[in-house]
Amino acid sequence: MHEIIVGLDERSYPIITKNGVLDEAGEIIKQRFGMRRLIIITDENVYKGQGERLKLSLEKAGFSPVFYILPPGEATKSYPYFEEVVEAILAAKIERKDLIIAFGGGVVGDLTGFAASVVRRGVNFIQIPTSLLSQVDSSVGGKTGINSPKGKNLVGAFHQPILVLIDPTVLKTLSDRHVKAGYAEVVKYALINDMTFFEWLEINADKLSSYGEECAHIITTSCQHKADIVAEDEKEHGARALLNLGHTFGHALEALTGYSETLIHGEAIAIGMIQALNFSKKLGYCTGQDIIRVQSHFEKMGLPTHISSIEGYEFTAEEILEAMYQDKKVSDGALTFILTKGIGGAFIQKNVDPKLVLEFLNEDMKLSQTT
Ligand code: GLY
Repeated sequence: MHEIIVGLDERSYPIITKNGVLDEAGEIIKQRFGMRRLIIITDENVYKGQGERLKLSLEKAGFSPVFYILPPGEATKSYPYFEEVVEAILAAKIERKDLIIAFGGGVVGDLTGFAASVVRRGVNFIQIPTSLLSQVDSSVGGKTGINSPKGKNLVGAFHQPILVLIDPTVLKTLSDRHVKAGYAEVVKYALINDMTFFEWLEINADKLSSYGEECAHIITTSCQHKADIVAEDEKEHGARALLNLGHTFGHALEALTGYSETLIHGEAIAIGMIQALNFSKKLGYCTGQDIIRVQSHFEKMGLPTHISSIEGYEFTAEEILEAMYQDKKVSDGALTFILTKGIGGAFIQKNVDPKLVLEFLNEDMKLSQTT
């Protein structure tokens, strides 16, 4: 069992990673928080694959769990389902000290966390993430929210969970594509400030699906990085912005592909990180050697590295730039990028000249996936 603490004074909480922890969830929750009323928010796929395990574990510990099951997919992260979840929580008579459990991937975690932040002005909630992306990123750090028709994650709140339980074996039921996409966020931590982790990933990352020590190391190292950054800068006034490496480019590509299955988040971020490296090179910060190294690693792990790999891709540099201006990271109309001096050397660059971005995007589009 690996336990990492997200250090936020009286709001500190543990991230527990262990194969099979889902079957112990009931006992762990009872030991730490006592007997409480519980509601579990999940989606149809997760409930079908893993719901019975969590239900049995909670019942064995003496809880009477109520499950609320949502349709899977990004469209669920919206106002109508937010209202549904809030009403379901109220109908289950959940009080402030009771518990709401988010049991699913990023959509369920973000929506449930947001509902938990507003019901009775804040109810305790637990994250049990079931996708690699949510295990290494979105379940930790307290960013919660839904999408607005005007953009992704534009409505939300910071609301930290009180416990995160990660069972790597639940990834066995996830599609290979979604595991790979989640892996992009793992590499992100290495690229931000951990060359040693990158070197380790180059040798060991292909053992991710063995669900052995390597998988645990991948998840816990990622969570440790996230915990450190969140403890330093919970509300993203500074260092937390580093976690947006590849996201200014990636979010624009997601927006232009309609947040659809054409390009899922981790894939967009993989392409975005290579663009961030190439943009850093153009601005004189990063060497081509490091870019080739990261690109080869992504190719080995089956991740896309260039916009030309996006099915039906036909948008222009101007459209990408326009989409960047819709992002939350725009401040006073100026673009902020996370650039890098090489693997492990990310830094925040504010007020980036849009003309340079446009020039870069036009050059980047002329490259092909394998150059
Ligand atoms: N996923 C980026 C963050 O939590 O800040």
